[in-house]
Amino acid sequence: MSFERVLSGMQPTNTLHLGNYLGALKNWVALQERMECLYCVVDLHAITQDSGYGKAEALRHATREVAAAYIAAGIDPDKSPVFNQARVPEHSELSWILSCVARLGWLDRMTQFKEKTGKHKERASVGLYTYPVLMAADILVYRATHVPVGEDQKQHLELARDIAQKFNNDFGMSDFFPLPEPVISGPATRVMSLRDGAKKMSKTDESDMSRINLTDDADTVANKIRKARTDPEPLPAEPKELESRPEAQNLVNIFAALGDETVDAVVTRFAGQQFSAFKSELADLAVAKLTPIGAQMRRLMGDPAELDRILSAGALKARAIAEPIMKEVRKAVGFLS
Ligand code: ADP
Ligand code: TRP
Repeated sequence: MSFERVLSGMQPTNTLHLGNYLGALKNWVALQERMECLYCVVDLHAITQDSGYGKAEALRHATREVAAAYIAAGIDPDKSPVFNQARVPEHSELSWILSCVARLGWLDRMTQFKEKTGKHKERASVGLYTYPVLMAADILVYRATHVPVGEDQKQHLELARDIAQKFNNDFGMSDFFPLPEPVISGPATRVMSLRDGAKKMSKTDESDMSRINLTDDADTVANKIRKARTDPEPLPAEPKELESRPEAQNLVNIFAALGDETVDAVVTRFAGQQFSAFKSELADLAVAKLTPIGAQMRRLMGDPAELDRILSAGALKARAIAEPIMKEVRKAVGFLS
């Protein structure tokens, strides 16, 4: 079997939500059984949009909280290093080198930058613009081959592949960096807002009713599902009929992903029923699957020193992998003989 290694990460900005869980985290847990995995909390990415005087403690807190979410969801830090990116300086070093490999034209095409900045591009940080280069460095610094993410990260992964390919060509090292493959799997790779089926569920949505947070209690989870927008039609007999009904489709996808079922199986079971009945079962399922994660997160957050210990042990393991790879990169570029 050829070499396989998984790397993924999430930003420590606000609490994680159902989209992060179903689109990414749940798949990370499953991959641990099959491959060597590393999971980082991308604190260097977090400062692209928000940092400054008085924000340090909030960043430390959010970093611990994301690490706690990984572990509460089922990542075993003894098996898969959990660490924050800033503690492995090789990420930043490789990012600089790769920013001299990537072309401006490639970054100009990144849609997430455009979405995040809107009309005010000139006021965005340079870091926000080069964010996808740092993401490529996160992956390539471990020569990772597989990257489990939600649908919205597909373009960034394509860029990481282009950067890896160009580095290999430019430095005459044909297979030095593997071309990382996105792993976008499960029935909920793009979870939509509970208030608007055309918008992605996101940490930054103003309405808390639009998302289910991993830390929401049982009543809140059930209430958000009850209040989720739907259309007046009953559930259809065929999944294809959901295509023109984004809110309905979103809830069915969430049901299938949470219950480890296919969309087909869910649709067959509920065909012809009203959404009120479906939502009540979905609420029970969501409460059963998510509230234990929230409870475990709270327990872990009660011992910040232990979380810091896990993060620093994870960083040591990660560095042991990154350092020899960086040595070869430094030699190839001419920084080291
Ligand atoms: P957000 O978009 O909420 O700010 P991040 O950008 O930190 O979250 O995303 C972390 C991971 O969660 C990525 O792999 C991303 O693809 C995934 N993800 C985020 N939102 C969703 C969503 N609504 N549906 C599916 N996956 C998502
Ligand atoms: N850009 C990713 C996001 O917004 C987070 C991320 C940073 C990441 N570095 C990564 C994901 C490396 C996978 C691999 O979700």
